[in-house]
Amino acid sequence: MPAAGVGERLGAGVPKALRLLAGEPLIVHAVRALVVAGVETVVVASPADTVSQVEQLLGPVTAAAALAVVPGGLTRRESVAACLAALPDDAEVVLVHDAARPLVPEAVVRRVLGELANGAEAVVPAVRVADTVKEVTAGHVVRTVDRSALRAVQTPQGFRRAVLARAHADWRGPEPSDDAAMIEALGVPVRVVDGAAEGFKITGPLDLRLAQIICS
Ligand code: CTP
Ligand code: MG
Repeated sequence: MPAAGVGERLGAGVPKALRLLAGEPLIVHAVRALVVAGVETVVVASPADTVSQVEQLLGPVTAAAALAVVPGGLTRRESVAACLAALPDDAEVVLVHDAARPLVPEAVVRRVLGELANGAEAVVPAVRVADTVKEVTAGHVVRTVDRSALRAVQTPQGFRRAVLARAHADWRGPEPSDDAAMIEALGVPVRVVDGAAEGFKITGPLDLRLAQIICS
């Protein structure tokens, strides 16, 4: 679980993963969502100065799972790589889940796990795009994109561990915004399953307010 971002767009000077939602930090919600779906080992990347705090916060919610908290990196990709380096040797499948998606339903996590159990190498949950999407250059519309084939991709994204480790080790491109992008670059097929509206990412203040309303 990459949780080492500063949360610049949310603001407030506290790492985003430690912001409270219904009385608990986002990271606690996000980890619980995985553990209830049967995840056995949780590896979290958090800001270096919060590692022991995050370990303590996650103790109660990971009673049924093994827990490791490691210092994150300067980018999301580096934080995921730090988590991969701390996985137990016998882990064969891995979910990568943003701490910033605290309300992902258990059913979405199980759908991703189900496709991995069916043999998929990589799986992403996705939802249709509600807005009309246009390509814009220099303040003018270039074209309207056919929305029917577009999907907004969420997490948890699921991978065979060896494939994800290879994708991270081989990556030479610009910073990808998700892990599946690196798998795509290897030419490995990425399966798509239904995500859910509740799997939205808390990016700005309005997202946190929406999450608070959902939890109230
Ligand atoms: N993340 C991380 N390490 C980083 C940057 C991001 O682990 N160096 C994590 C975040 O903690 C979050 C997820 O990646 O769980 C998605 O990133 P984002 O929503 O962009 O969070 P932040 O980077 O914290 O937010 P911002 O970009 O507004 O600063
Ligand atoms: Mg970010």
